[in-house]
This record gives sequence, C-alpha cells and structure tokens, in this order.
Amino acid sequence: MTDFDPRKSNPATIAAQALGWIDERTRGVAPPLHVSSTFIRDEDNLYRSGRSYARADNPTYEQPEAVLAALENGAAAAIFASGMAAATAVFLSLRPGDHVVAPKEMYWLLRGWLLSFARRWGLEVDLVDMTDLKALKSAMRPGKTKVVWAESPANPQWVITDLAAAAEIAQAAGARLAVDSTAATPVFTRPLDLGADIVMHSATKYLNGHSDLVAGALVTRADDEQWAAIKELRVQLGGVPGTFEAWLLLRGMRTLFPRVRAAAANAARLADRFNSHPHVAHVLYPGLKEFFGHEIAARQMRDGFGGMLSIRVTGGEEGAIATAARVRLWKRATSLGGVESLLEHRASVEGPDTPCPRDLIRLSAGIEDADDLYDDLDQALRHAHSK
Ligand SMILES: Cc1ncc(COP(=O)(O)O)c(C=O)c1O
Repeated sequence: MTDFDPRKSNPATIAAQALGWIDERTRGVAPPLHVSSTFIRDEDNLYRSGRSYARADNPTYEQPEAVLAALENGAAAAIFASGMAAATAVFLSLRPGDHVVAPKEMYWLLRGWLLSFARRWGLEVDLVDMTDLKALKSAMRPGKTKVVWAESPANPQWVITDLAAAAEIAQAAGARLAVDSTAATPVFTRPLDLGADIVMHSATKYLNGHSDLVAGALVTRADDEQWAAIKELRVQLGGVPGTFEAWLLLRGMRTLFPRVRAAAANAARLADRFNSHPHVAHVLYPGLKEFFGHEIAARQMRDGFGGMLSIRVTGGEEGAIATAARVRLWKRATSLGGVESLLEHRASVEGPDTPCPRDLIRLSAGIEDADDLYDDLDQALRHAHSK
C-alpha cells in the first residue's frame, strides 16, 4: 500500500497506478503472483492471515478487485473464472420461485441459460424490451421480482437501456438492478452511480483488453447479504480465476483508459464513414445522432460511446458472410474488447433462434489506425458485392 488516495484521483489515474499499491516485502511496483493453494494455520488453530485455501482467499485477487471497485465506485468487487460464472452467480444467489426480468436483446448465452437451466432450477424468467419502460414496469411483480438484468449497450445491436429509470422501476418493486456493462466499461458508464445495485463484466473483454484470458467480475453497491451469498457461491461453485489470470487482468486494467478511448475513437470514425457506404444498409452505433437511444446514451455515457458497432450489409446474410470472408486485417473471430479489431457474422454464432438480424456483422474496433481498418472492410464489402 501507499498513501495514494483514490478519492482524490480521477479514474484514469486509479487504473494506471492500480491504486498505487506496491509490494511491501520487495518494494516492487508490480504485484507478486501468489500461487499457493493453501495457507499456514496459526499454532493456536486460528487463521490470523485471514486466508486458509485459495478457492476462498487468493491474495492475487485483492488488487484487481480493489481497482475495479474503485473504478465502478462500488463497495466491493469479486473476480470470477469467466463472465458467465459472474453473471450466473447473481441469479444462483436467489431462491427457486423468485422472479427475474431480463432483456430480449442481451448476451445470447446468458439469455439461453436463463431460459433453460435457470427456469428448470425454479426461477421465473420474463424477457422484456428494455427500451420500453412501460413494458418493464408491467413485468415487475412487487415482492417477487428480485433481479432486473440489463445490458447497455446490448449485444449485438447496441441497444441502450436507460439505467437510472430501470433502477427506479426495479427498486420500487423491491428488486435489484444488475447491469452487464461489458461493452460500456467503467470508462464510459458507471451504472452504480446511475442507481444500479450490481455491475457485471466479462473481464475477458475490455478490462483485460488483450484477448489472452477468460475472466469475469461483479461489483456491488452495498456489501450486504446478497453480496455475501454471491461470494459464498463463488467458493462453493469454484468459479474462481487462476492466479495468473488475476495477475494479467490487473496488468490489462492499467491501460484500460487509453485502450478503450482509442477503440471508441476508431469505432466513432468507422461508424461515421460506413454510414454513407454503398454496401452498408445500416450502421448501429450509439454515438450516431440518428441511432435509436442516442439521447439516453449521450446522457448516461461519459466521454464516448464505446468501441463496439455493427453494420447491416446490403447483400443480406450471404453478403455479410462473404464480406467477413474477405477481410485481411480485421480478425474473423468472436469476442470483443481486444487491442486488435475483430469481426463476425453474429447470427452464425447465436444460432437459428437468434433475434440478431442475419445481415449483421458485429465489429469490435481495436486500436489500430482507423483508416487501415476502414480500407480493409471497404475492400471486403466491395469484393463481396462484386459477384
Ligand atoms: C456482453 C457479454 N456479457 C457476458 C459475456 C460472457 O463472458 P465470458 O465469455 O467471459 O464468460 C460476454 C462474452 O462474450 C459478453 O460479450
């Protein structure tokens, strides 16, 4: 520890300095990697170190969790083996019979899990259009609805949810608002400041930023009973990240601000240029003035609109797949939030039941030169449409 005071610092400083912690034993600026799976019990049978076994207490988690809690302005954070491990822990901390509301448009695998496993396990699950606050309100069952799940911007059309309004509706019915903020990152949105109770990240994405680990995270507004239940579930289900992943995640978070700002600047430029491209029917990007939800995004996102956008091509599904096949610089791969730009025909990933339009290509802008990115996708679009 140092006398660095995060309350007096801006988030970019908190991230770059990782709260300014140093390793007291060695005076190292970078933290050590604690690989021990178990810890010594004191002679009097107590564990004064506060640690007994690494599934429950891993010292390498402490700094990334503290940094993330500070960036999201939360009371505490917990890192998990994946974003799915983090998200499912929120729902599994409820009881069979409880009711939850989730968006129709959201990360597809979690939606699938809610509609299959979570329902079989006993949760009552309703999906609503989160842009329709009246629909959200009427889906609430006061006293029975325990969690409202939101994702903003939401995969893969980057639909914006008014998080402050959703929090008010959820809390008025006695529920909590949990927000998948993977695409927004703490750089652009702080859901807890807008009234949410829990923030979730696939840390695999922007928080780490280098496409070289899988991890997840939750941040809570209150260190309360539900948080204790979630932490207990992490120990019981064992959804813990490896020590090296935790260490890498912290390293990734130190460059979070410059990385995602560069990616968002590229995304904004690409959105603007593809908006008038002859083979692009629609650009979906919350930063565009004509985007449905732009006004809410402009209110609740600070300093930018993120690095994710999608294009709907003029040649339908065939045109989209052919375009993806022709890129040379963009990487044709799923996932998002890395320094390298990725694209994919999203409906191929989500399967036949997806609400994702079949002519949609999802773009994760990296931090390369924006003109190189534009030129590559432009040649791919022209090639695919020249047949
Ligand atoms: C928005 C969003 N939420 C959650 C997840 C799940 O995270 P993970 O793959 O780390 O389990 C993903 C992964 O693609 C995602 O994009």
